[in-house]
Amino acid sequence: MSHPKSFAEGLSIGIIMDGNGRWAKKRGLPRTAGHKKGAQVFQDITDYCQELGVACVTVYAFSTENWKRPFDEVSTIMKLFGEYLIKAFDYKSRDVRIVFLGDRTALQPRHQELMEEIERDTAHKTGMILNIAINYGGRQEITAAARELAALVQKGELKPEEITEQMLSDHMYTRGQKDPDFILRPSGEKRLSNFMLWQAAYSELVEMDVLWPDFTKEHLDMAIEEFNRRNRRFGGL
Ligand code: FPP
Repeated sequence: MSHPKSFAEGLSIGIIMDGNGRWAKKRGLPRTAGHKKGAQVFQDITDYCQELGVACVTVYAFSTENWKRPFDEVSTIMKLFGEYLIKAFDYKSRDVRIVFLGDRTALQPRHQELMEEIERDTAHKTGMILNIAINYGGRQEITAAARELAALVQKGELKPEEITEQMLSDHMYTRGQKDPDFILRPSGEKRLSNFMLWQAAYSELVEMDVLWPDFTKEHLDMAIEEFNRRNRRFGGL
C-alpha cells in the first residue's frame, strides 16, 4: 500500500507489545511461543516504520516488573533479546540509530557489551531512532533523573529552584528526542503500565483489539490513520 509522504513521516510512536501470552494460550501453546512470534512481529513492524519514514519508534520489550514472571518465560525473552542483539548488527548497513532505555546493570554482561557496541556503532545515524525499552520502568526512569539532578545540587553545581522540566527531560533515557506523538497498545488494554510516563504527557493513546503476535502492517496503517484523524481535529474548532 502506498501512502502520501505526510502519512507517517516524522512521527514518534511508542508501542506496548502486549498480548503474547494470550495469543499462545488461545493456540494451546506455552506463553514463550507468543514471545517468539512477538519478536518476529517486532522486527517486521519496526522495519515497516522505517519504510514509512517514521522518525522514532519505542518498543516496550521488558519492564522492571516482568522479572516477577516464571523463570522460563524471563529466560526466553532474554534469549530472544540476545538473538536480536546479534542480528542488530545488520543495522550497520541501515540508517537506524538504536538506543536502549532502562536499567541495563541487571542484564547479562555479554548483553550489556553488545548494547553498548550497537549504540556506539549507530550513534551517528540520522535516520529513524529505534528505542528498545528493556528492564525499563517510567517511574524508575524519573527516579534516576531526580537522583542525577540531586547529585548536581549536592555538588553545588545546581540550585533546586533552577531545576526545569527541560532539565528533567534531558536526564531521561530519551534525552534529545521528540516525545511520542502516540502510544499504541494492542490487545485491548487501556493502560500505560509504567511506559514512558514522563514523555507521554501529551501523547495520544491508540488502543487496538488485536494481540501483538497477530499485529500486521495494516494494523499499523490503521493506528496511524486513527492518530491522523485525531490530530486533524486537534487544530479545528
Ligand atoms: C507482553 O505480553 C509482552 C512482553 C512482556 C514481552 C515482549 C517481548 C517481545 C515481543 C520479544 C523480545 C523483544 C525483542 C526486542 C527481541 P504478555 O506476555 O504480557 O501478554 P499477555 O498480556 O497476553 O499475557
